[in-house]
This record gives sequence, C-alpha cells and structure tokens, in this order.
Amino acid sequence: MAYYEIEGGAPLRGHIRASGAKNAITKELVASLLTSEECVFENVPRMGETQVTLDMLESLGSQYTWEDENTVRIQTPQLTATEVPLAFSGINRVPILLLGPMLHRAGEAAIPMLGGCNIGPRPVDFHIEALTRLGAEVQTEEARFVARASELHGTVIDLPFPSVGATENVLLSSSMAKGTTVIHNAAIEPEVIDLIVVLQKMGAIISVDVDRTIIIEGVDHLTGLRHRTLTDRIEVASFAIAAILTGGDVFISGAQQINMMTFLNKLRQAGGGFEVNHEGIRFYNTGKSLQPMALETDVHPGFMTDWQQPFLILMTQADGLSVLHETVYEKRFGYVNELKRMGAQVELYRQCLGGKTCRFVHRNFYHSAVIKGPTPLKAADITIPDLRAGFTYLIAACIADGVSKIDGIRYIKRGYAQIREKFEELGAQIREVDTAPETELEALPA
Ligand code: EPU
Repeated sequence: MAYYEIEGGAPLRGHIRASGAKNAITKELVASLLTSEECVFENVPRMGETQVTLDMLESLGSQYTWEDENTVRIQTPQLTATEVPLAFSGINRVPILLLGPMLHRAGEAAIPMLGGCNIGPRPVDFHIEALTRLGAEVQTEEARFVARASELHGTVIDLPFPSVGATENVLLSSSMAKGTTVIHNAAIEPEVIDLIVVLQKMGAIISVDVDRTIIIEGVDHLTGLRHRTLTDRIEVASFAIAAILTGGDVFISGAQQINMMTFLNKLRQAGGGFEVNHEGIRFYNTGKSLQPMALETDVHPGFMTDWQQPFLILMTQADGLSVLHETVYEKRFGYVNELKRMGAQVELYRQCLGGKTCRFVHRNFYHSAVIKGPTPLKAADITIPDLRAGFTYLIAACIADGVSKIDGIRYIKRGYAQIREKFEELGAQIREVDTAPETELEALPA
C-alpha cells in the first residue's frame, strides 16, 4: 500500500488552482442520466471519486470521454441495464441518487448498499421515504435496494433534517415527475444549488423559496447542457489552514468567497490572514498569535462539518482553550486520537458544548471537543480513517517536528485531485512511497 512521508517545518508558499467540487460533480454526472442528449461538464476534478461515478454510469449505458484534463462529455442514449453492479457495493453515496433517474428511464432500478466515510451511521431513511412519497415502491433486500415505479408524481416532502443527499435525491427524482413537488426543510448548500443550476440548464423548473423550501414543477423533457462545476470549498479551506499554520502564504485561484463566507469570518476571528481578488483568495500567516474560539458546525449557511477537521488543527495552535461542537454527524471526531499521539491536547465530550443544544443531546455520542493550544506537534506514524481527517493529518505532519508516515492515503486520493502534487508545488517536503499496486474499487470516500 502507498503512504506519504512528510517532513514538517516547511512553510507552504506559492499558487495553486482549486479543483472542482467532488460533492457537486458526482451528483451532476448523475443528472446527465435524465436526458439522452450530450452533457458537458467543465472543471471536473480528476480523482477516484469522479472516476467511480463515471464507471457506475458506464455500467448503465452512459458513454463518456475526457475532452481535456478537466472536461467530461457524457451521454446516455439508452439505459442498457437497470441494476448497478454489486461490485459497487459499499463504495460511496452515489447509487441511492441513481434511483430516481433510472426509474424515469426504465421504471425499475436496483442499486447496491452504500458506502462512505465512517463518520456515523449514515442511514438513507429520508431518501427511501421521499422516493416512496413520489410514488416509487422501494424494497430493501440483503445486499441491495430495488425500486419500481410506472411514473413518479409530485408530492410534499418534509425532511426531518436538511439532508444534502436526500434533497439532491428529490431534485433528481422530481424534475421529471408529474406535477409539483415541494421540499420543506431542504438543504441549500452551494453544491445543492449548483445541482439546481444544472437541472435548470437542462430545462427543469425549480425555485428556492424562503425557509428552506424548494419547489419543483415537473417537466416532460430535459436536454443536454454545458456547465462549469463550482469550486471545492473544502479543499480551499484545508489549504488555507495549511498555509496559515506553516507560516506560509498561498494564493488559491478559483476560490469562491461567496461560498466560503462563514469560514472566512471564523478564520478572521482566529487571526488568519486572507485577501480576496477576482481570481481567487490569498491566505497567509499574519505573524500574530492565533485566537481560540467556540465554534459549532451546522448545515449551510452555517460552518460546514467538512471544515471541522482542518479547523480543529488550527485550534491546536491557537493561544488558549477552544470549543468545537459537531452537530451534523454524531461520530466525526474519530481522527482526534492520532492527533493526540502527535501532541495535540484535545478532550471529547458527549455534551453539547459551546453553543446551542443539538439533536445529539443525551445520545451518548462524543460530539464536542475542547482543544488546548498552542501545542507543538511531533511527527508520528498515523493512519487516515476518513477523507477529511486525511487532509488534516497532512497539515499536522507539515507543522510537526520530524518525519511523519501517513498510511491510508487511498482515502485522500479518492476525494482530492493531485493532492500530493499541490503540496509539493507549495514547497511541502512530501514523498509518496508505493509498496504495492492499489485495487480499483477499494476505498470508502465521503
Ligand atoms: N441523515 C439521516 N437519514 C438520511 C440522510 C441523512 O439520518 O436519509 C442524517 C445523516 O446521518 C447525517 C445528517 O443527516 O447525520 C446529514 O447528512 P446528509 O444527508 O446531509 O449528508 P450526505 O448527503 O450523506 C454530504 C456530503 C458530505 C457532507 C454532508 C453535509 C457527499 C457525497 N457527501 O453527505 O461530505 O459532510 O453532505 O454537508 O456529498 C465529505 O465530502 O467528506 C463528506 C462527508
């Protein structure tokens, strides 16, 4: 298995280009199934997760080509299969989103069980309930979900939580349903809005109303489109923190302020430097000590859960006690133990600390963290447990004293494009050691 060796201490300096967002493009590629016409996506990140999604679509009859490094042309003249092969079991969250488009194309669909990062139970009950309300009959079998519907029809869906995936599922399933669908308590993350933009370009009629209400008026026909996928705001935030903590100065072209305002506010409060221009955002260390703070994750426009891990490492270097309350996933602090071995002082609590009470109150999950800083980190051999924790370990290794060995890098490669190359470009002392060829469908991305 491949691993990274990183020698800490080098300030990250220079210029990189932000990649397209994994959590947008994978859903947008699924949207292409709703038409037999050609769809062209630009700014597509070359990463394992994009490739797995393309492979899945190919297994259903989609034909695709890479027009250049980051542009994909995809077309599905006919659905040639109604089952996503079991080989894709446990790989990622995409199959559940295929159900609606497959039902529109073929009236039946079977998908394998989902995978995804181990950051909590990650049920799909909202998805199944929504599809059922739209008129699908969905059965859960031992290794797969099987759905049937002669047609989907508009309905009212009240999501118990503003789930990103469930909102996207309803958007994909209802754009061509008969009649109007209303989603209450919908997710409005930028990646969800980008999917709506894609569907609108294809001919869908979707409005985002006040109070997390999305209204979809079903249409009979969708067409091909050309679309430039939005930038990955998680990658940008992670490199921003890497630049600041290493005492560096990095310009990230393509970084979009509009989708990162909550992060930028917190970064400014913590004392991290940034400057926005029309091409991107420059992140730099101001030379002053970092300030501790209380912070909680939330659905958009709150502080996103995928920024939590890099921000925790920032807090280990702030001058005092910080509190971090995770309210989206119940088990998203699993990565902290390895950081403690490197010298971080972090304690986890089951209580809701630092802000409002969340839905995990009295549920016995370690979902709050108290972080004492600043603590120098020392190099260690660590194993990545999930995608976002993986980047955080890279940052930790970049500021640690000595050479760290980081295992499990397949997780990172699945969700970040050219990650090692970007670190190298910025001057990090990073080396990939490859001990055996990787198997193709192995890792569990987000
Ligand atoms: N939930 C349910 N039932 C459902 C669906 C969700 O209880 O049917 C719960 C989840 O267990 C979780 C919460 O609702 O506690 C939020 O889940 P959501 O559905 O919003 O998340 P997701 O769609 O599975 C996407 C991203 C995640 C990101 C979250 C939140 C993808 C592929 N994944 O997950 O990204 O953290 O939204 O923004 O888009 C990552 O990229 O590393 C990652 C984990």
